[in-house]
Amino acid sequence: MGKGGIFITFEGIDGAGKSTHIEALAEVFRGRGRTVTVTREPGGTPLAEQLRALVLNQPMDPLTEALLVFAARRDHLRQVIEPALRRAEVVLCDRFSDSSFAYQGGGQGLDLAVLSALERWVQAVEPPDSGLRHPDLTLWFDLPPAEAAARLSQARAPDKFEAKGADFFARVANGYRKRADEFPLRFCRIDADRGRAAVWGDVQGAVESRGWLE
Ligand code: TYD
Repeated sequence: MGKGGIFITFEGIDGAGKSTHIEALAEVFRGRGRTVTVTREPGGTPLAEQLRALVLNQPMDPLTEALLVFAARRDHLRQVIEPALRRAEVVLCDRFSDSSFAYQGGGQGLDLAVLSALERWVQAVEPPDSGLRHPDLTLWFDLPPAEAAARLSQARAPDKFEAKGADFFARVANGYRKRADEFPLRFCRIDADRGRAAVWGDVQGAVESRGWLE
């Protein structure tokens, strides 16, 4: 693989431990001379961070939630992600639209057809008819919901989603599984129910196997 832009997303239920690996992977790419943008969703721009605060703290119906996360995504794509990829940078993003399918779709029961429609509007690449922006690789940190709940109970004050029960997280996990089945080439499942070193080995292996660290 040449020196084009690379878009990698990190996904999984809350408590799966993805965040610690994002910075480590950024350092690996920087060590190979790449410019790396580390960002997150919802968020990554001033407007999207304001939308994040609403989504994470205010009660709202699932469609409102989806409209807000996709509005944040639109701003983030236009302001940060697409320009970085045009500059042939590496973009590492903590969550992207698979989170919407898992949380608003799986967890909250929103019609997946609505999410697919939003995805078509929001992730359309310029010029028109150039297809949709999807990650080049999605690292899915898969953790049994009960284990995630145990880890979260030791963490800081929970946000709106983290405070939900085990049933919710089981539905979210199922939402991820469906997405992974739908996009087997893009998704790499990582068994997150292991020590940090083993998980990191899989993260590096997934990126290496695509020829991005040569
Ligand atoms: P998270 O990324 O886990 O950040 P932190 O580590 O600071 O808690 O939190 C973001 C939350 O937003 C998470 O619970 C999932 C939720 N979310 C959605 O419901 N839909 C989305 O489309 C995205 C991107 C996130």
